Amino acid sequence: QITPPKPLIVKDREDEVDDGKKKVTIFFGTQTGTAEGFAKALVEEAKARYDKATFKVVDLDDYAADDDEYEEKMKKESLAFFFLATYGDGEPTDNAARFYKWFTEGKERGEWLQNMKYGVFGLGNRQYEHFNKVAKVVDEILTEQGAKRLVPVGLGDDDQCIEDDFTAWRESVWPELDQLLRDDDDATTVSTPYTAAVLEYRVVFYDPANAPVKDKNWNNANGHTVYDAQHPCRSNVAVRKELHTPASDRSCTHLEFDIAGTGLSYETGDHVGVYCENLDEVVEEALRLLGLSPDTYFSVHTDKEDGTLLGGSSLPPPFPPCTLRTALARYADLLSSPKKSALLALAAHASDPTEADRLRHLASPAGKDEYAQWMVASQRSLLEVMAEFPSAKPPLGVFFAAIAPRLQPRYYSISSSPRMAPSRIHVTCALVYEKTPTGRIHKGVCSTWMKNSTPLDNSRGCSWAPIFVRQSNFKLPSNTKVPIIMIGPGTGLAPFRGFLQERLALKEAGADLGPSVLFFGCRNRKMDYIYEDELNNFVNSGALSELVVAFSREGPTKEYVQHKMMEKASDIWNMISEGGYLYVCGDAKGMARDVHRTLLTILQEQGCLDSSKAESMVKNLHTTGRYLRDVW
Ligand code: 2AM
Repeated sequence: QITPPKPLIVKDREDEVDDGKKKVTIFFGTQTGTAEGFAKALVEEAKARYDKATFKVVDLDDYAADDDEYEEKMKKESLAFFFLATYGDGEPTDNAARFYKWFTEGKERGEWLQNMKYGVFGLGNRQYEHFNKVAKVVDEILTEQGAKRLVPVGLGDDDQCIEDDFTAWRESVWPELDQLLRDDDDATTVSTPYTAAVLEYRVVFYDPANAPVKDKNWNNANGHTVYDAQHPCRSNVAVRKELHTPASDRSCTHLEFDIAGTGLSYETGDHVGVYCENLDEVVEEALRLLGLSPDTYFSVHTDKEDGTLLGGSSLPPPFPPCTLRTALARYADLLSSPKKSALLALAAHASDPTEADRLRHLASPAGKDEYAQWMVASQRSLLEVMAEFPSAKPPLGVFFAAIAPRLQPRYYSISSSPRMAPSRIHVTCALVYEKTPTGRIHKGVCSTWMKNSTPLDNSRGCSWAPIFVRQSNFKLPSNTKVPIIMIGPGTGLAPFRGFLQERLALKEAGADLGPSVLFFGCRNRKMDYIYEDELNNFVNSGALSELVVAFSREGPTKEYVQHKMMEKASDIWNMISEGGYLYVCGDAKGMARDVHRTLLTILQEQGCLDSSKAESMVKNLHTTGRYLRDVW
């Protein structure tokens, strides 16, 4: 006998109709839209399955204005799902940060969520130390606080095929929802498998002579001054410099965005989000594969303000009217591997049935291993896939809705301080240039754009990009006398250049500075010792007490920052004992993990601690904000 729970009769919004239907809330914490997409996909199918329930997809940030409202509303939720992505150093997405802080800090609330049944699906990457930390933590606390877990937490792994992980987790959800959301009389009916329709925008074409105004969504000095990812600020490239010497076979760009008069501001340690453009050669290839004219002037429309279509499916945000060339350059991610839903959309527009079958096979459960191998492991780009299925010629409305995802902004740790460079945002960006298993040369979209950009001082007219600032908690201690230890090999140096500029400015203004040490690492002093002169100047001027550099490819053995840390173990111990702060910036998968282990060893050896004491000491440094990591 299946007894569905009593219908919920709480109204949380004036406009909500109390129709006795069971209410299900689906929360998402998303950065690039994947978690949101999964949340909406779950709802779309659930709507088709259960007509005795209402479903609401909610951005965690929009849900409540403050902590009290979170508490007030959460306790009324009786059935909820959470889609939560984990970033960098085990952090939540921007839109989930407020919720996560409130939720994790309130562990002592007791079992106040007994009314709630829930499921959590996490989005993460197994290569990282804190794989799906946010989802795991939220899942744990929900149970601790009395909520009933319906299904084990889903651990989506972006390193493999996260769509498959989601599909498998979703299948585990239906039997539970069948019990909760079906009436007794239809409890035995077998649900029909759901097949998603190919999403499509309505497209309007224009005569280029009377085309609407372009670029409406980039603000400038006399428009918005609150800039964010949706309202970026158009900024000129003021300076571009190569930081590696000609002897290096790699490249690293120093770039300065001019923000004078825009109203955009930043703090030392913040991040800058940059919307860049695809290379001309990439755009040309896309035009060739689509078989359309670059001058086609068009706009895309959803006809519903929130971008959802009938059935709740949602489309990526539309962009302003422009030519196809511009749309491909600015708004289409052409170099990532297409998702399975994109393959189905391509299949729907392939005139050759063999091609359509093969595309459908790759997207099907039977083609799982092939997809993993042929697509993911070989890093096939969307353009490569389209080249291998030449009969697939999707119309623009389908291409931009279901095949090419929106080109996402790239985030960089700002490498300047506003005390030194109030009207400039400096970026230090290593070029991504690598051969993929298919033999394609993968050129990172934003790093290539930066390397090729034209600075203001060039008479040909300069490059510009829409940018915005994202605040971070990677900040110097407010007391300038507190000792600081900075560890940042490669472009991990970026925020520390900002820190040191700030310390220099503070010193010049008369501040007393505590001791500081910087561990920097590069391959060879003749190739990639970036900002060498500046670093030496920081030492000479007293902004930096000690500079320690590890050269990994000069001697017979590799020397990394963590080896240098071991050599300076007692200094590190002393600085930490005196209340010092520790900062790590750079690669999360290798360096930050190794540095973390080295730190534990140093604390054990220097403090004569056993491993669990050393670990709790590190944990304590972390929770008190004295061990900060800006890792990617
Ligand atoms: P490598 O390229 O010789 O391996 C900046 O990229 C510097 O970080 C390089 O000198 C690089 O050395 C080094 N590096 C690579 N992996 C690292 C790790 N796990 N820990 C610390 N440094 C590392």
